[in-house]
Amino acid sequence: MQGVTVVDHPLVQHKLTIMRDQKTSTASFRRLLREISLLLCYEVTRDLELTTRTIETPLTTMEAPTLEGKKLVFASVLRAGNGLLDGMLDLVPAARVAHVGLYRDHETLEAVEYFFKAPSDLENRLVIVVDPMLATANSAVAAVDKLKARKATNLRFLCLLAAPEGIKHFRTAHPDVPVFTASIDERLNEKGYIVPGLGDAGDRMYGTK
Ligand code: PRP
Ligand code: URA
Repeated sequence: MQGVTVVDHPLVQHKLTIMRDQKTSTASFRRLLREISLLLCYEVTRDLELTTRTIETPLTTMEAPTLEGKKLVFASVLRAGNGLLDGMLDLVPAARVAHVGLYRDHETLEAVEYFFKAPSDLENRLVIVVDPMLATANSAVAAVDKLKARKATNLRFLCLLAAPEGIKHFRTAHPDVPVFTASIDERLNEKGYIVPGLGDAGDRMYGTK
């Protein structure tokens, strides 16, 4: 699928299977999401540009590789995005963070915004939007709309599970934003849940229901 990368690393797939299992506890679910986020972060940042800088090792001087450009921005779609955010910040501790508060109205499946806070200078930065679930994509489209309105131009979307319907909607709305996911599942059900999926990611992370 154009613009979509499925991260099929065996460790990701193994951990995802445990997360899908309804018997997995809240504590394990959260720990696994954090572990998977490290592996997904590795893939979504694989092609970041490098430059070099001069350093002194204990033995000699060398031109050593270092990341080029301005600090990355991770944009977490609340609440469940924070499950990916924490691990990603372990790998890229200098990243800036945006929070986009959205919830899905259970009747209409429209995204309702309740919070937005982002670094003021999004232009010239790579913004990686994180949310475990891309279902109808109403939330993801709204989050990217908002970030683009704040002048972000270079964006990627990272999730754990995507529905084919959500990918189509998202890529139509934002064809310039590549999607990274650990799985493209079968479909959405009549309530807008991903099947086979893993249930409600926020509820499973935080033990709410
Ligand atoms: C979930 C999920 C996404 C959204 C995906 O959030 O984390 O943000 O649903 O669905 P969509 O693609 O159909 O918009 P939810 O609204 O349940 O909020 P929460 O993270 O606070 O639980
Ligand atoms: N949000 C979730 O958390 N899970 C789904 O399956 C769909 C939307």
